[in-house]
Amino acid sequence: MPITIYQDRIFALHTNHTSYVMKKEENGLLSQVYWGKRIDAVQDFDESSLRGENSYHMAADQAMEEYAPFGGMRYKESALKLEFADGTKDFRYQLAGYQRMENGLELILKDEFYPCQVKLIYRLYEEEDIIRRHAVVENLGKEDILLEKCASAQFGLAGCDFKSLQFNGAWAKEFYKKQDSLQGGKKVYESLRGSTAHVANPCFVLHRDADEWNNDVYFGLLAYSGNFKVSLEATPYDWTNVVIGINDTDFSWVLKPGEAFETPAVYAGYSAEGFSAMSHRLHQLQRRYLMPKTLSDKPLKVLYNSWYATYFDVRCEQQKKLAEKAAQAGVELFVVDDGWFLGREDDTRALGDWTPDPEKFPNGLNELIDHVKGLGMEFGLWIEPEMVNENSRLFREHPDWIYRFENRPVLKGRNQYVLDLTKEEVVSWMLETLDRLLSDHDIHYLKWDMNRAISETGAFGQNSVEHKMVWHTHMTNFYRVVRELRARHPEVEIEACASGGGRADLGAMEYFDEYWTSDNTDPLDRLFIQENYSLLYPAKYMRAWVTDSPDERKVSLPFALHVSMCGSLGIGCNLNALEEEKLALIQEQIGVYKQIRNIVQFGELYRLTSLEREEIQTVEYLLKNQGVIFAFLPQGRFGKDRFRVKLKGLEAAGTYRVTDRGKILEKSGVYLMEYGLEVNLRGDYDSCLIRFQLL
Ligand code: GLA
Repeated sequence: MPITIYQDRIFALHTNHTSYVMKKEENGLLSQVYWGKRIDAVQDFDESSLRGENSYHMAADQAMEEYAPFGGMRYKESALKLEFADGTKDFRYQLAGYQRMENGLELILKDEFYPCQVKLIYRLYEEEDIIRRHAVVENLGKEDILLEKCASAQFGLAGCDFKSLQFNGAWAKEFYKKQDSLQGGKKVYESLRGSTAHVANPCFVLHRDADEWNNDVYFGLLAYSGNFKVSLEATPYDWTNVVIGINDTDFSWVLKPGEAFETPAVYAGYSAEGFSAMSHRLHQLQRRYLMPKTLSDKPLKVLYNSWYATYFDVRCEQQKKLAEKAAQAGVELFVVDDGWFLGREDDTRALGDWTPDPEKFPNGLNELIDHVKGLGMEFGLWIEPEMVNENSRLFREHPDWIYRFENRPVLKGRNQYVLDLTKEEVVSWMLETLDRLLSDHDIHYLKWDMNRAISETGAFGQNSVEHKMVWHTHMTNFYRVVRELRARHPEVEIEACASGGGRADLGAMEYFDEYWTSDNTDPLDRLFIQENYSLLYPAKYMRAWVTDSPDERKVSLPFALHVSMCGSLGIGCNLNALEEEKLALIQEQIGVYKQIRNIVQFGELYRLTSLEREEIQTVEYLLKNQGVIFAFLPQGRFGKDRFRVKLKGLEAAGTYRVTDRGKILEKSGVYLMEYGLEVNLRGDYDSCLIRFQLL
């Protein structure tokens, strides 16, 4: 039974290996009492968990509340802050009822006096050991309610001995992992940029000295691509208070009579077996339930992207030549990045004018598309629809379509402004423009970019409260455009990009088929970015291109190819200038990738060794009875050329055939997992791809 309810007071949500237990306390508050390994005997929790209170430490402040409102005598970080029309600023609730749902539960918190209720909605993914949570606030009265904070979820974890992992990166340094100890006070990770951004990911990962294979990890990922806030607070009462949701800075929402506000969802889980189990559960959840169905069970094609080869200097003939080389190499999807549209010679102009440049494409874009299709590939384009340059037709026609404050000059980022997506006419323009682009051309793929943070969110004609609704309205309208575009063109594949990996989150996953992971394609940096990325998100969504080696780092091409083959492979080299033998090598490795990509894109990923601790990085992908291992030695030392690596997830009693660069071994699963496999690498930037198969 996934849900057990004891005497209408104790509510337990069970997944295959975990239990999450909540309780209605004697004073009517709803608190969380347990989250951890599965406990079926829920009646055992029938004892008071309220602590004695005194004037400075009130019961409500001490309780591990399931969804604590601001107000009353509570001083911990809250999940909800609202204001009623008469100025009352607290929500004094009682657990008023519950409802079982298919695979889920709904709990209703009702104010004792005011006509307002909050529904806490839970859905269980039993096999993945994950719980989805979100909240809905409903105005049941006749007057407006002002919401000033409305988080998706709050979690109480017993103890104040957690370490927290976050990804505090930057552009070209995405998923840069940092660890903090949470022993006292509060730690906040957030984005205020109107996008997920590179500086933090909308998630929490709390652990007790966990490693890949051992110890407690609690995690939660927010399905939202806008301003978010994750607050982790070591309370004075020996429990850790986690609140995750839409950022309350510069946020408010007017809830009119009869209206409801629905938060984005959080997908949360507990693993007693370290980070590896966390990743497997998250990856499986994403593959089975969150990815758009059109491509969720199909492997992504090998793509070519023109950005690093031709930047803004796109011309039809030169792209045709690139396409010919790409087809020769085995590429399946040819993508023209920035620079293809009306007058786009550099990044100071043309954003907003989404029609092919007649100077660059004198016979229209279809000439190139036909050529690409004739070569047996699909065609794709880069777009950045939420933005406009001052120097564009769109801006000249609609200077009032951008966010700005009326009495200040507007700031530019990468020479561009952000379109005011709270305006219905802007939403319609965006949808119709993209619809036309896709209807007029045989386009299989779009790379949807967002290259500046949002600022100055003044929208014309709105009052000061409505200004604070802009951030979230922007997000919901952005999602609406993508959703509608996909409905009109269900066959089109769309990649989420925001100056690299600034839009890698579960909110974007619902609408996009893959993420551009980072503009940083340096293979060594990529090893770190990719490993950390894999903690949360699956290899399939990790687009990874091989580009020309930068002058400052001479990485061998096979090494670079192997790094990119760890995700969804792409090529970004200037093929028009590439030596024939390098093109032949790319062609050969694309051939290999096509044989193994199902294993990489759909298999279980194991981080066997890491450059954080070991001399080599080794990653295993296992799909049923077949697997691949990539191993990387960036810098060999003291002539060491033998590394023993223990495999994971194999059938202990089975026999595996292992193929390593022409060498074939047959070994038992238990031998490969307990004694290990010898990996031979030597010198600088050496790498290998090893395959294995259960006999
Ligand atoms: C961003 C993207 C790049 C490229 C450029 C084009 O920086 O991350 O991959 O598309 O925009 O201007």
